[in-house]
Amino acid sequence: MKIIGTGRANPAVVVTNSMLEQFLDTSDEWIRERTGMAERRVISSEKLEDLAAEASLKAIEDAGLTPADIDYIICSNVVNEYATPGLSCIVQGIIGATCACIDVNAACSGFIYALDMADDRLKSGKAKNILVLAAEEPSRMVDWKDRSVCVLFGDGAGAVVVTEGEGMIGSRLTTVSKTDCLHYFRTLEPTPYITKEEEGKPMYMNGREVFKTAVLSSSRDIKTLLDAAGLKPEDIKYYVLHQANMRIIEAICNHLGLDMSHFPHNVDRYGNTSSASVPILLDELNREGKLQKGDKLVFSAFGAGFTTGACIIEWTK
Ligand code: UT7
Repeated sequence: MKIIGTGRANPAVVVTNSMLEQFLDTSDEWIRERTGMAERRVISSEKLEDLAAEASLKAIEDAGLTPADIDYIICSNVVNEYATPGLSCIVQGIIGATCACIDVNAACSGFIYALDMADDRLKSGKAKNILVLAAEEPSRMVDWKDRSVCVLFGDGAGAVVVTEGEGMIGSRLTTVSKTDCLHYFRTLEPTPYITKEEEGKPMYMNGREVFKTAVLSSSRDIKTLLDAAGLKPEDIKYYVLHQANMRIIEAICNHLGLDMSHFPHNVDRYGNTSSASVPILLDELNREGKLQKGDKLVFSAFGAGFTTGACIIEWTK
């Protein structure tokens, strides 16, 4: 597998920390110090499927292809207005592709799970050009009165097109069922037969627990992959990490004994966009001309589940 195109789309509304101060017991200082975030983009009139389609069309154009050339779509998504059909099916219609489509939900790690699935599908010879996208609106999962959670998230979409090639050096996926520290319950339709208690609840997160698990598991995944590939931490040009918190990124940087020049970030501008954060950051690097052929990149993410996903990619574009 190799990546041949990238794209991204973010909502228009910018919510700054001082805007949050207007209705929450919080401060710009607290949010910047604890998370590194200054602002985030939040969906207002946009539909997530339109942002997903915009990111996808940009990635397809960057790859020098048309939607007719795409023969599989994998979309990472946690929630959107539709429970069914999958977001990938909706995006297929908007962009005018005709291939088979599937959604995956591995929370914030979902893009890397989707990329790993794409790699397998290419290896099996069942597809040639795959659109892998991540589109998320975590702003619709949180209680906007809960300052410990709502300030952290932003919405957006990122996409890549992959084809046969020698760009995937290694990948590692892990899942440990640990639903107590991070979850979100949605209500289902009532039936005449339901006797159990059910209640929709906004996102709950034990921030400290997630923080510790994230740093340890991401550092472990990256070291395991580097060892398996015979690479040293400094051989990697950029660590394109899930943008959940600047302090998590700095802690992983310290674990690897590197300086921050290897850790591009945009968490200050977008907040945590769940599984879209890695492809959004990758697209920024690509469009800013920061990636050279032969560069080695690490992607690493963690999220509800508890899931982690990491891979080493060689940039071949
Ligand atoms: O994408 C996947 C998942 N999520 C994450 O990766 C998040 C991981 N966790 C984190 O990023 C951090 O744990 C947080 C940013 C969520 C919280 O930072 P923290 O340094 O772990 O703070 P804390 O939860 O220990 O809270 C410290 C204090 C508490 O007050 P007391 O109990 O010390 O009086 C909180 O009530 O900060 C308070 N607090 C706030 N104060 C102002 C919590 N949220 C806010 C807020 N504004 N928005």
